[in-house]
Amino acid sequence: MNRLQEQPLIGESPVFLEVLERVSRVAQLNRPVLVIGERGTGKELVAARIHYLSPRWDRPFVKLNCAALAESLLETELFGHEAGSFTGATRRRLGRFELANEGSLFLDELSNTSERVQEKVLRVIEYGELERVGGNDTIKTDVRIIGATNEDLPALAEQGKFRADLLDRLAFDVITLPPLRERQEDIMPLADHFAVKMSGELGLELFEGFSDVAKDLLMDYAWPGNVRELKNVVERAVYTALGNDEAISEINFDPFESPWRPGGKADDRPADVATDLPRDAYDFKEHIQQIEISLLKDALEQCRFNQKKTAEFLGMTYHQLRGYLRKYELTDQID
Ligand SMILES: Nc1ncnc2c1ncn2[C@@H]1O[C@H](COP(=O)(O)OP(=O)(O)OP(=O)(O)O)[C@@H](O)[C@H]1O
Ligand SMILES: [Mg+2]
Repeated sequence: MNRLQEQPLIGESPVFLEVLERVSRVAQLNRPVLVIGERGTGKELVAARIHYLSPRWDRPFVKLNCAALAESLLETELFGHEAGSFTGATRRRLGRFELANEGSLFLDELSNTSERVQEKVLRVIEYGELERVGGNDTIKTDVRIIGATNEDLPALAEQGKFRADLLDRLAFDVITLPPLRERQEDIMPLADHFAVKMSGELGLELFEGFSDVAKDLLMDYAWPGNVRELKNVVERAVYTALGNDEAISEINFDPFESPWRPGGKADDRPADVATDLPRDAYDFKEHIQQIEISLLKDALEQCRFNQKKTAEFLGMTYHQLRGYLRKYELTDQID
């Protein structure tokens, strides 16, 4: 059971605990199971947990990402091939179904399979039978399938893009992982977990924790990339803070953020301001000043409060920038 301890599933929100409970229950059944959820929600970890909690735990856990291979390759990967079945097939090769015999087969990105492959998978589920590509012998296997997808399979089945009968068989039980934004209580435990791990990898003896500002930033973010994105952001934050012996206060959600990013945000800023025109009567001069202040603040932030870069960014000289900063009493932002 070492594998389980190596990769703990962190989370304490009620919805996540409920999922864990279902995982333990479904693990005991000798039936296919589907794990569904947005990108980065932990589908692969959950699939592994299902296998290692099941009676098959000491048998093989074989994985295959169905989106990573072209159709014909996917078929030979799954079902194997006989020698001479196609050019280059000099020897018989066992497919993943045979390798997973008595264990579990994790089929990731399952929605990306062709009609033909789906038909063969259905036959394995129904009768435990398959033929290798280029072979006539029927081979018996005993494999539990754990499928995963971030797509809406019932909708695909309705559109005729996924076999409804296969979906029916696969969906004996379905575990749907909630996105991270729906389980706020999990954010800090996960962040601490990844930070401690990263600190260890970097040879630090201690992780100093996150400052209150950093915690607020982490808690307020929507995490479209879910746990995977959180892991990356936290690891980057720990790495960036290397050498400061204090709580982490800087969180960078977008490593590509730069005023010099080609085609980046900086180019369309003036347009943003223009669409924000006031509808009612207003003081023209004061409004212009407000726009100037917001452009200045924005540029300073983007250039990390470096005045030389900010001046360059705004197409003005250093002295002109200093003049504006004094005029609007913004010098305290940098001095
Ligand atoms: N509850 C959790 N506790 C600890 N680590 C987690 C948890 N959930 C996800 N992770 C980590 O987040 C990353 C993404 O998880 P995983 O690969 O399982 O997601 P996924 O749903 O399969 O994503 P994708 O749809 O992109 O394939 C991995 O590094 C995984 O270890
Ligand atoms: Mg995955």
